[in-house]
Amino acid sequence: MNRTKSIRRSLTTGLPLALLLASAGTTGAEEITVPMPGPWGEGYEETLDDPASVDATEAFQRFRQQSMRGTSATYRSIEQILRYDAPFAERLPDLADELARRAADIETWFDRETPARDGDPGALPAAWADPDFAEYKASYRQAAERLQRKVETADDLADEAFQLRATKALNSVRHQCLACHDNYRRR
Ligand code: HEC
Repeated sequence: MNRTKSIRRSLTTGLPLALLLASAGTTGAEEITVPMPGPWGEGYEETLDDPASVDATEAFQRFRQQSMRGTSATYRSIEQILRYDAPFAERLPDLADELARRAADIETWFDRETPARDGDPGALPAAWADPDFAEYKASYRQAAERLQRKVETADDLADEAFQLRATKALNSVRHQCLACHDNYRRR
């Protein structure tokens, strides 16, 4: 038995398995139900795609999608502070660092060529075929770094004039998300 199989085996042995054909999703992945025991009792379980039916390419693509969603959550958190006055201005440095780190990380999310299947939502083949894609990534990184610097050098994170300037820098980051999606993503 190879290693992957034995991991799968240890995930699934002895479980009351409900093998279902996934009704949603694009992979036709089968589902399994895995118990999630803990201090609140034995009755918790989760139904998820069977690891045996998700190949490495699919997992890579899903990792990228989850990372994009994480980026979105970071972006939207900053937006709540700057645009909607959520009282967390002191978190701006951490959040702007995180956004910049994620922007730098985007490179690795496209390391492997994993475009969406025909007609499905996801990355377009152009993300690997079009040399301009590198410029979109670089330009995005720079916009995130500009916001990061603006936040880093602020005297008063709650100051209205600073927040207005930071919102403009945030809008420039958003421009990058939208432009790249417009060219390299199918919804
Ligand atoms: C350089 C290009 C590029 C930039 C910049 C970019 N994205 Fe994306 N994004 C993509 C591509 C390509 C996909 C499709 C990926 C896939 O499905 O494999 C995607 C997918 C997404 C998704 C959907 C993920 C899912 O679950 O399917 C979200 C949300 C997202 N991006 C948010 C953002 C946000 C927010 C920003 C800016 C802060 C951003 N992206 C910047 C290229 C980019």
